Amino acid sequence: MEIRSTTVAAPEIDADAIVIGVLSDRPLSGSAAQIDAASGGLLKRLVDRQELSAKPYDVTLLHTATGIKAPLVAVVGLGPADKFDRATLFRAASAASRALAAKARSQVAFYLDDLGQAALVEQGVAGAVVGCQGQDLYREKKARFAPTTIHWASNNLAAIETGRVLGEGINLTRRLVNEPPQEVYPESFAARAADVAKQFGLSIDVWDQAKLEAERCGSLLAVAKGSARPPRLVILEHRGGRAGDAPLALVGKGVTFDSGGLSLKPSDGMLTMKCDMAGAATVLGAMQTIARLRLPVNVIGLCGLVENMPSGTAMKLGDVLHARSGRTIEVQNTDAEGRLVLADVLNVALDRKPARIVDLATLTGACVVALGTDVAGLMSNDQPWCDTVARVSRELGEPTWQLPMFADHRLTDYRELINCPIADIRNVGEGRWGGAITAAKFLEEFVGTTPWVHMDIAGPAFFDKPKSWLDGGGSGMFVRTLVELAKGS
Ligand code: BES
Ligand code: MN
Ligand code: ZN
Repeated sequence: MEIRSTTVAAPEIDADAIVIGVLSDRPLSGSAAQIDAASGGLLKRLVDRQELSAKPYDVTLLHTATGIKAPLVAVVGLGPADKFDRATLFRAASAASRALAAKARSQVAFYLDDLGQAALVEQGVAGAVVGCQGQDLYREKKARFAPTTIHWASNNLAAIETGRVLGEGINLTRRLVNEPPQEVYPESFAARAADVAKQFGLSIDVWDQAKLEAERCGSLLAVAKGSARPPRLVILEHRGGRAGDAPLALVGKGVTFDSGGLSLKPSDGMLTMKCDMAGAATVLGAMQTIARLRLPVNVIGLCGLVENMPSGTAMKLGDVLHARSGRTIEVQNTDAEGRLVLADVLNVALDRKPARIVDLATLTGACVVALGTDVAGLMSNDQPWCDTVARVSRELGEPTWQLPMFADHRLTDYRELINCPIADIRNVGEGRWGGAITAAKFLEEFVGTTPWVHMDIAGPAFFDKPKSWLDGGGSGMFVRTLVELAKGS
């Protein structure tokens, strides 16, 4: 797929389809006004008869309007003008792109950005690139067909290119999450990361079983013990800043399949557990994007890759693990494996003396209970850094909400819930209440005093059913947030 800039007016462009937007309170503004005028008031008549939905991300297809060169006009609802921003535009472009991708088309032209600001163009183009890509990887009868060429109505070539790179980063993440666990396992994920690193100029270091043993990563290694697949730790590095500048560290949970281990999940709960490497896939998608955009900052990306399986060699309940940091952990539930992996990965991240850390993990069902499927939980040891992540993510339409990490005798101290009589900590809270927070309290033990935000993406990383603006499966959610954070927001 190719992305081009166009300055041809919407009614005149020679394309198979064009995309325009309608605001609910100003339906005939911008490119909609141009199309309306050229078609002798067609849009006005449709608006009057309530046949044109301005509801966000609804798409109405109009065939052969007289006066319009393109035989198909896709009208996407944008909602009210006061809520039209980058977040709206990403989803609107994605929704229109998805609707048009139901059939194979050659030339599709988008007229969604009347303001021409770079930040809007970037998000719009990224949405268009993401929407036409589906989850039909292994179907003979494809469900989505990316157009040969996307034309974007803007003369800002740099912003269009940035948007394309961003969209491709998101699609990499989605694809890795959607591929089945027999294809994506620790070694194969690491090989894919190595391909990305080579192609786009990232440094990469891959720790295999022997190196992980030499580095005493006893917590991560314990999770891998039950599997026939050996673990890997991938360390990617983008050096765009000054040599001495402390990097931003992006850390991802990469459990390529989570059966629960000996604390085996019921079949229903296991069904989508190929998605348990979404944190690592989000880090890889973001690192690819950061490298391609040559951002002038230092960023390291760490992916902890294991498969969590039950077997005669699996870790057991009651096992006491020796984490790389020196902390001891009693295993009380082998399905609380993500935190065991991240304990060592976060500790490795600290070796690089990062200025700030963000970790992403499909960590707890409890977070989905608390916030629903669309919103990620934020937990942090540093309020300013958490405020930044919250603001940036919400501005981009990647919803997050902070959960408390109280350690105050006048209120409550969540840390007490992971106290353990035999080891320093245990890997589950006392009882199931506050499960997202006790998981975060566990992680906090391994980040020292470095400003750190934990994002529990168990809900939004994977869509069980499609949205009007995105197919089901891996969502690629939070790639945009990570890239924006790397820009130094
Ligand atoms: N990978 C799961 C969490 C998850 C649940 C991700 C639903 C995506 C959707 C995690 O490893 C897990 O099993 N967590 C347990 C923790 C419990 C044993 C303390 C959970 O949430 O039940
Ligand atoms: Mn689990
Ligand atoms: Zn898991």
